[in-house]
Amino acid sequence: MEQEKIFESDTAIVTGGSRGIGWAVAGQLAARGARVLLVGRNVERLERRVHELNQKFPQQAVGFACDMADQPASSQQIVNFALKTIGKPTLLLNGAGGASVTHALDAPWTLWMDDFHVKFFGYLAMARAVLPIMREQRRGVIVNLVGIAGKDPNPALAIASAVNGALNGVMKVLADDVSADGVRIVNVNPGATQTDLLTAMAKVSAKESGKNIEEIIDQMRARSPLKRLPGPMDIARIVIFLMSSDADYVTGTSIDVDGGIHRGV
Ligand SMILES: NC(=O)c1ccc[n+]([C@@H]2O[C@H](COP(=O)([O-])OP(=O)(O)OC[C@H]3O[C@@H](n4cnc5c(N)ncnc54)[C@H](OP(=O)(O)O)[C@@H]3O)[C@@H](O)[C@H]2O)c1
Repeated sequence: MEQEKIFESDTAIVTGGSRGIGWAVAGQLAARGARVLLVGRNVERLERRVHELNQKFPQQAVGFACDMADQPASSQQIVNFALKTIGKPTLLLNGAGGASVTHALDAPWTLWMDDFHVKFFGYLAMARAVLPIMREQRRGVIVNLVGIAGKDPNPALAIASAVNGALNGVMKVLADDVSADGVRIVNVNPGATQTDLLTAMAKVSAKESGKNIEEIIDQMRARSPLKRLPGPMDIARIVIFLMSSDADYVTGTSIDVDGGIHRGV
């Protein structure tokens, strides 16, 4: 079905745009007319994804390969590339990252540092790189894929719980700083969502518990109040709504898309 081109005048950077939730968001943005810059590490996959989008939506997609662990250099390079190719960013999806399955005392210090560098500093550095441009245009929306563990800390996802909690705090204060300039910042908290990341996490849990991956995923599904696990599109639809003008009074908050698993209200 032909989508209404509600993002025709938009320029979007999607980190983690080559797989999972980010890829679903990139496709939806392009279908609605946005020019998109996808970011990921794997060059071949990125090129395939960019080609796929350009076949459907000619000349709307470009890719930039880099490791988001290298901050703030990577973020500045991404934004410079965007300015040269798709133009001044009006939308940012921060989505590059993962979630190590580990308890706080078991995780080596280097893993704590690595995960904070990629996701916490990666999201923060991207926000710091695009916000001056968005403020100058008096227009922009940043959506961050954070995660329900930030509100509902999970001992088996110790670092992700800390990273996501920290992202809730820093994005709130950033939203306060830029709201008067017409720029919105919203966090989205997926619960367990069926992507490569979930399979990788289930693999670790399966190894530790002696169960197989399907059993681990079945357990997650059984814990969900809705008795199903979402796919990337379930999350992407909410991101697209939050980026649209229909959500123009939503900022400085986080939206749970977790099927009701988190008990807080
Ligand atoms: N899936 C879930 O259950 C779930 C739940 C809560 C929160 N989240 C959060 O949502 C976000 C997206 O998750 P997902 O499930 O869509 O993950 P995914 O399917 O594993 O995709 C991750 C994307 O990020 C890119 N990426 C990962 N590390 C990177 C790095 N160091 N530098 C640059 N790009 C990198 C990947 O491409 P390359 O591998 O090519 O770099 C890929 O495009 C993550 O922040 C995750 O923590 C996910």
